[in-house]
Amino acid sequence: MNPLGRQDARPLGRRIILYTIVFSSVITLIISVLQLTNEFTDRHSAVKRQLDNLEILLPSISESVWTFNEPQISLALQALTSMPHFQEARIVTPEGRTWLQRNANSSHSISRSFPLERETTTGRVILGTLEVVASIDAIYVAVLTLTAEILFGNAVKTFLVAGFMGWLLHVLVTSRLPPLKREVEAVLEDLGQPPAPDGVSSGDELDSLKDSVSHMAVRLKDAIGSMKMAEAGLQTANEELDARVREKTAELEESKKKAEDAAEAVLRSMGEQRNFLSMVSHEFRGPLSTIAGAAQLIAIYGRGNGELDEELAKINRAMARMSNLINEYLNEERLDSSASPLDAARFDLGALVEESCAADQFSAGSRPLDIRVEKDVFVVGDSNLIGIAISNVIDNALKFSPPDSPVTVTVGRRPGHAELTIRDRGPGIPAGERDKIFEKYYRSIKTDRVCGVGLGLYLVKRIVDMHGGTVAVESPPADHGTAFTLRLPLAAD
Ligand SMILES: Nc1ncnc2c1ncn2[C@@H]1O[C@H](COP(=O)(O)OP(=O)(O)O)[C@@H](O)[C@H]1O
Ligand SMILES: [Mg+2]
Repeated sequence: MNPLGRQDARPLGRRIILYTIVFSSVITLIISVLQLTNEFTDRHSAVKRQLDNLEILLPSISESVWTFNEPQISLALQALTSMPHFQEARIVTPEGRTWLQRNANSSHSISRSFPLERETTTGRVILGTLEVVASIDAIYVAVLTLTAEILFGNAVKTFLVAGFMGWLLHVLVTSRLPPLKREVEAVLEDLGQPPAPDGVSSGDELDSLKDSVSHMAVRLKDAIGSMKMAEAGLQTANEELDARVREKTAELEESKKKAEDAAEAVLRSMGEQRNFLSMVSHEFRGPLSTIAGAAQLIAIYGRGNGELDEELAKINRAMARMSNLINEYLNEERLDSSASPLDAARFDLGALVEESCAADQFSAGSRPLDIRVEKDVFVVGDSNLIGIAISNVIDNALKFSPPDSPVTVTVGRRPGHAELTIRDRGPGIPAGERDKIFEKYYRSIKTDRVCGVGLGLYLVKRIVDMHGGTVAVESPPADHGTAFTLRLPLAAD
């Protein structure tokens, strides 16, 4: 069992050794049979040749038989049987006379008969037959011994070679197969695929590895198939996305164009509206001054009539409101128009503040203003624009605070700048709104019952910014009113 608990495959080395032994044995057997057959044939032929060579002795033996020299005959037969392999020699005459010499009996033998003849004056005479028997037992013994030697030698060689091959195979091949298989299984595990099922392999380590590799190939094929499908899906999704992006881009472009057209239309209509408003505002000034003139005449001629004075005061207040509105609008237009550059000059801020207060006091119906102005606080700038800014802040202080409450205006010189503060005892401005009040058209809900358009402070900030100054607002809690502080750079002396 291996560490994974699986049955080990039949070892390849053992099979190789077995096959080598079988193959080598068959080959050895064939070669040995051929070799032994040759050996046997050679030795057998040698014995036969030995028998053939006996022909040389025939004349002398025939002579001995012719002369009937028995001792000579016995001697010849003894000599024959003493030769290697020859075990028996016999001479038989036609008259039935027999001489025999036998040394031993053997189980395998070959024999040969030679005719014994003599040439006489009357012709050739048959004297008898020489029969010689040669034993080939020794050949069999020799061949068998050789067989045993060859078989033993080859068996030892075969076993040694087979063992060496098995060892070599184990070192060079089979010992490397299990790690290879584990690597294949690790690859499968990395791919999130199960390893090849147990018990599938019926052969050796190579078969087992082959099973794992085939299993991996199948899994890889599956994985590649799924990848290809996913890729195709992704491509389709991409194409769809592209199409949708193109569609949405076209829609966006269309919407952008529509928005641009709409913005252009709005700008155009705003421009037209502005032109119309500015024209109307300019046109209002004429009739307003006519009404003001007429009101002054009525005031002169109707002097002493209390009821008339009251109506005239109403007319004056309404006119002041109206000219305020028109002025604010025209002032903003003037600031926006690049055709009116800053008309800068050195002037006394205190003097300008006193002038503005006088005018505002008049429009506010002679409401007392507490003015504290330092002399000779000179600044550089467009006195008309600064005057508009000052009027706006004073106007707010007067209109948002109770009619009997004091409004204080102070002008002073501070290090590097002139400072103008307008303080009232009105409702104050909530902390969250102190930045917003400088935005165009912003009006607090707290004061929406007081008329206005929300342009005043916007203009103030723009004018002060243009002059390199600042506007600050303070509004202490508990009805302590509001203080606006405008700071402008001092003019050089
Ligand atoms: N002195 C003040 N006291 C209280 N609230 C003020 C004062 N000055 C300005 N505000 C608030 O700031 C808003 C913006 O002022 P402004 O731009 O001059 O517009 P308008 O005077 O036309 O209302 C006002 O509507 C008001 O709510
Ligand atoms: Mg205002």
